[in-house]
Amino acid sequence: MKRATPLYILGIETSCDDTGAAVLADDKLLANVVASQDVHRKWGGVVPELASRTHQQHIIPVVDAALHEAKIDKASLHAVAYTRGPGLPGSLLVGSAFAKGFAAALNLPLIGVNHMEGHILAHFIDTGKPMPLFPFLCLTVSGGHTQIVRVDSYLSMTVLGETTDDAVGEAFDKSAKLLGLPYPGGPWVDRLAADGNSEAFQFTKPKLPGYDFSFSGIKTAFMLKLKEGLKNNEAFVEHHKADLCASLQKTLVEILLDKLLMAAKDTGIRQLALAGGVSANRGLRSAFEALEKKGFQVFIPPFEFCTDNAAMIGIAGYYALKEGKTEDLSNAPSARLPIQKYQE
Ligand code: KG4
Ligand code: ZN
Repeated sequence: MKRATPLYILGIETSCDDTGAAVLADDKLLANVVASQDVHRKWGGVVPELASRTHQQHIIPVVDAALHEAKIDKASLHAVAYTRGPGLPGSLLVGSAFAKGFAAALNLPLIGVNHMEGHILAHFIDTGKPMPLFPFLCLTVSGGHTQIVRVDSYLSMTVLGETTDDAVGEAFDKSAKLLGLPYPGGPWVDRLAADGNSEAFQFTKPKLPGYDFSFSGIKTAFMLKLKEGLKNNEAFVEHHKADLCASLQKTLVEILLDKLLMAAKDTGIRQLALAGGVSANRGLRSAFEALEKKGFQVFIPPFEFCTDNAAMIGIAGYYALKEGKTEDLSNAPSARLPIQKYQE
């Protein structure tokens, strides 16, 4: 049952290189502000020290902008939710120190959110579209993680399988770097793949037991393919960029969906969701959508909730607050925070 007055939650996300603040009224989004950090582009990857310094510069203006856009005075807030982990330690520290200071000054409950659970719970931000019903399986794909998660409730999730080496986002980014594309390369591969032939090159898929993934072999196979091509033709990369991207993307998408379908078959769960930065990939989205034809119900997040954002931290905070799962100021951020299976 909904309360007469909504719960206003401030969400804060600083796990990597995007500084985010969002305001929610229950499960409805009032504002979602993200300041991306361009400083990393010229280094070809995120530089942790630069990320935390830039979060320091962004955090107050971004929170101010979110409150302003939401037309909410900070005195009206009911709780502050922030990303407690996983992520870069220095980046997490900025968000957690800010959230703790903010919550202590206003005497508000504080909620430390697991970033990966946030990605999954973004499906429960009210956008007027159908939401998954429990239990469902979520393929959570980002720059740091690749997981198949069984979601039994807002607060109870179990990781069924995950990557044993690189994340799928890393496979996109590292391969893109070999092609000379800017960082992060995932969206560039996506764009180029649209004009390429996905059958042009073959990459052997890894054979891992169970629901676990491996992506480091594909990255090496991609590198070897480029070396081999460049031996006979200096312009190999230039001439075949789109085909290389399309073939790589197709292979990565197949690896992901093969395992997800195996988990769906074994668990008998027919509701499948996608989450995390790589869920913005159009090849993955259309392959996922096509699973409807196989009798699955699929849930694909809107683009604004795919890559890192604070709305997903706010919604996770909302459901934790409703269950009374708040924390005291002594909880430290954790770079390797695992998904928890909570006792309800
Ligand atoms: O979830 P996210 O924003 O940050 C992490 O928590 O890691 O994910 C970032 C990852 C990067 O590897 C980026 O290249 C990838 O998501 N990504 C994409 C696309 N958009 C973002 N990968 C493939 N295609 C895209 N369109
Ligand atoms: Zn993320």
